[in-house]
Amino acid sequence: MDFYDVVRSRRSIRAYKPAPIEPEKLDRILQAGRLAPSACNLQPWAFLLVTDPGTRKDFIKVYKQPWLCEAPVILVICADTKKAWKRWDGQEYWQVDCAIAMQNMISAATAEGLGTCWIAAFDEPACVKLLNLPAHIRPVVITPIGYAAETKDPVADRLPLEDILHRERW
Ligand SMILES: Cc1cc2nc3c(=O)[nH]c(=O)nc-3n(C[C@H](O)[C@H](O)[C@H](O)COP(=O)(O)O)c2cc1C
Repeated sequence: MDFYDVVRSRRSIRAYKPAPIEPEKLDRILQAGRLAPSACNLQPWAFLLVTDPGTRKDFIKVYKQPWLCEAPVILVICADTKKAWKRWDGQEYWQVDCAIAMQNMISAATAEGLGTCWIAAFDEPACVKLLNLPAHIRPVVITPIGYAAETKDPVADRLPLEDILHRERW
């Protein structure tokens, strides 16, 4: 799929078929995340894949929407906060690095014909407990990956460019 077709057709999918994902597709998606850029190339991320049906069911404690557990794969993008770059004023960038890796994987999944959904509104302590994450590993974002059980039109509901584009000065 052409890059611009991926950008236009990627939508948040909130209904999944139980069909498994072909391992080669999942591998290409994860490789796309691995190849993402990061501040100082520190790559402060870890990708946690959950496919076990029991653990997926337990995600209801982490995010209260059953459609997450219905996808055959749940991917949790974690930040290694010890590894991550910090700007001289103390601003931390691990969320940015992880978001870039996530978007690469979401775009790759779209190109593979698979559905995803960014999930940030999850219960972090419940996620840490369920996945046994050490203190320096922070879950940043979660996505289900699977074949969509709903169809959505290409992206349309966005602000027009003239509302968000500034030239030279604010
Ligand atoms: C950082 C981020 C966090 C999000 N968190 C959630 C979430 O917790 N639950 C959810 O259902 N959708 C979540 N979304 C999806 C947005 O609601 C969705 O991207 C937006 O409404 C545009 O719709 P579209 O993705 O179908 O184009 C999130 C998206 C982003 C980028």
